Amino acid sequence: MSVKERLMERAGEVEAYLSQCMKDRSIPDPLLEAMEYSLLAGGKRLRPVLLLSWCSMLGGNAEAAMPFAASLECIHTYSLIHDDLPAMDDDDLRRGKPSSHKKFGEAEAILAGDGLLTEAFTLMTETSLLNGLPAQGVIRAMNVLSRAAGSGGMVGGQSVDMAFTGRSGQIPLDELQAMHAMKTGALITAACECGAILSGAGQTHENAARAYGRAIGVAFQIVDDVLDVVGDEATLGKPVGSDEGAGKSTYPALVGLERSMELARGHVDEAVSHLEAFHGADSAFLDELARYIVDRVN
Ligand code: IPE
Ligand code: IPE
Ligand code: MG
Ligand code: MG
Ligand code: MG
Repeated sequence: MSVKERLMERAGEVEAYLSQCMKDRSIPDPLLEAMEYSLLAGGKRLRPVLLLSWCSMLGGNAEAAMPFAASLECIHTYSLIHDDLPAMDDDDLRRGKPSSHKKFGEAEAILAGDGLLTEAFTLMTETSLLNGLPAQGVIRAMNVLSRAAGSGGMVGGQSVDMAFTGRSGQIPLDELQAMHAMKTGALITAACECGAILSGAGQTHENAARAYGRAIGVAFQIVDDVLDVVGDEATLGKPVGSDEGAGKSTYPALVGLERSMELARGHVDEAVSHLEAFHGADSAFLDELARYIVDRVN
């Protein structure tokens, strides 16, 4: 099975779980419709699959960790809904469909994001309350994820992104990398680290997961910037040329497409080096997944 097929297979399991969760909550319409519209619109499910793969590679109970993995996708989807709003990137297409605010209006889009973010905390706690994973580990993972999603992580990075908008080509590479590490890298890093924490495998393995996550996280956003230039709108499911149109500070705008991809590959090589201590099917998958990040077309 190719890495893409394996990713899609695991993504399907996450999707089925997310779909069931939404049914179990008493969410009024049209909020439920708006939340499901974005959450169940496809998406690669990279972050939950990273958590589950790290957890199972380290001998943990990935099935029990599923609610925690699903919480990552709720946080990620909320970040996409808010990222597309007119006050932010003002993009009209997401996951191959009209953006949330285009379909439901801005108020409902903001609320769908709020609802998904809050739902994430219900799901994280259920990893222990319903599935019996040790509370101490779940609390530590919650601390890691809430820090990564918040003002010192993804939200902080989005704020830096807005401050850098209109200054394309003027922001030095180290500052761009720091922004990428926050807005995109933090959640991807937390996915890997939380998988290790929930496996109960201990600090050394958590450090390896974090280092792998940091490296692929930056690579992932560099490639996202590249695909915004060279990608195909139908394949990507989101607009192409949006960054240039908005005056975003990106890797291609600063160092060009070729150098951007070289830098992304360098980060992926670093990520793969953190898997050396591990052997087996899941380490091979995480190795291929890191490489897939630079080869992907969506
Ligand atoms: C897009 O993330 C936004 C970034 C953080 C770069 P993905 O490329 O993972 O989007 P989906 O989840 O597959 O739609
Ligand atoms: C967004 O980066 C990262 C998020 C935290 C949502 P982008 O603004 O480049 O993501 P896309 O290209 O719209 O998916
Ligand atoms: Mg953005
Ligand atoms: Mg955007
Ligand atoms: Mg982008």
